[in-house]
Amino acid sequence: TEQKTWSQRFESALHPAIALFNASITFDIELIEYDITGSIAHAKMLAHTGIISTQEGEQLVAGLEQIRSEYHQGQFNPGIEAEDVHFAVERRLTEILGDVGKKLHTARSRNDQVGTDTRLYLRSQISLIQTQIREFQRVLLELAEVNVETLIPGYTHLQRAQPVSLAHHLLAYFQMLQRDWERLGDVYRRTNISPLGCGALAGTTFPIDRHYTAELLDFAGVYENSLDGVSDRDFAIEFLCASSLIMVHLSRFSEEIILWASEEFGFVKLKDSCATGSSIMPQKKNPDVPELVRGKTGRVFGHLQALLVLMKGLPLAYNKDLQEDKEALFDSVKTIKSCLEAMKILLAEGLEFRPERLSTAVNSDFSNATDVADYLAARGVPFREAYNLVGKVVRICLEKGKLLKDLTLVEWQELHPAFEEDIYSAIAPSQVVAARNSYGGTGFEQVRLALKNARTQIQA
Ligand code: ARG
Repeated sequence: TEQKTWSQRFESALHPAIALFNASITFDIELIEYDITGSIAHAKMLAHTGIISTQEGEQLVAGLEQIRSEYHQGQFNPGIEAEDVHFAVERRLTEILGDVGKKLHTARSRNDQVGTDTRLYLRSQISLIQTQIREFQRVLLELAEVNVETLIPGYTHLQRAQPVSLAHHLLAYFQMLQRDWERLGDVYRRTNISPLGCGALAGTTFPIDRHYTAELLDFAGVYENSLDGVSDRDFAIEFLCASSLIMVHLSRFSEEIILWASEEFGFVKLKDSCATGSSIMPQKKNPDVPELVRGKTGRVFGHLQALLVLMKGLPLAYNKDLQEDKEALFDSVKTIKSCLEAMKILLAEGLEFRPERLSTAVNSDFSNATDVADYLAARGVPFREAYNLVGKVVRICLEKGKLLKDLTLVEWQELHPAFEEDIYSAIAPSQVVAARNSYGGTGFEQVRLALKNARTQIQA
């Protein structure tokens, strides 16, 4: 006997193209573990409250566990006729248990069910992503620890500004990822609320116990309003916001690595394990990994935009539009996990900094000009006056094809009598960096403190 999805209100079957259009099983099968877990909690609650018998409850749980292991063994592959994962599981349960299987959906709707599944799914993905962020931070930290005294040009407007410790530069990304990790923790808190028992939209006539299922599923609380519970996707949007920011950070870092790997910068060499070649230009070595990360960022932004637009015109409560939330979430999760993984490998073993190039870079520009102005200001010259004078010094140097360090003491003193022999040590790159010893600055002492604090941050 053919099992019909809909009630007997329907006289004929769906048009095959419409059935295909309507179905979500091709992608929401990803939720199956969570669907089964949610259904087990629901079945236990039905028995606990006496809505079904203890024995029926046990049968339902056993049947659901059987489906779980069938799925794990590759023996449960529902087709399009099942419509979605929820129907697929319920059908199989009824095949296994007969009439008892048909009791599972008592006091429940697919609306609170899918909301529960999605939250359970996202909750566990958030934890996995947080773990990956920690691993990435660890790699950053290890790289920073051995590069405290490696100097790299610091930029504003992509123009040489002031040299910094390479560790300081890497720790900037560490801190961005720290915020990402914390933000995900916030999203987790609001994701971890149970809509189960909200029913289709209005609650149920059965004496269910929503707090009982919430507890079984480790939710921290329950939705207070059933209409809100079945139609809220704030948590998904918040997740995509947090995800978009993670991608912003990975993409900025990618952009820098791409620049650094160019001949023009030449700050890093890509190792063969993490670079690719060209099909025609034999000399090429391309930074495909950071380029892909930069490119994939758009997908996640797009999914965020899609969900915002999806929600903005929805009347309460459930609307089928909501089925569109899943692929956005699944693809974002997959994208973020793969980007974090690839970037971690790239950083841990795919690139090598080129000390000679970095050293040439920081020794051959005017990025110590601020320090000349600071030198004068520290000796009583008002800063703005010192700033103007050093501007003139730089112009003179450019005309003479000299760097600041090439000026003779006589030349310095002609410019201002306050200059003395120690001007040379004051403008040496490592001194320039060391001197920026204000809290959070690039001074080596501060960077060592920052490394220590960073270690504590990821242990907390
Ligand atoms: N596949 C559906 C979804 O993902 C499940 C909920 C269907 N509910 C409904 N009233 N048609 O949203």
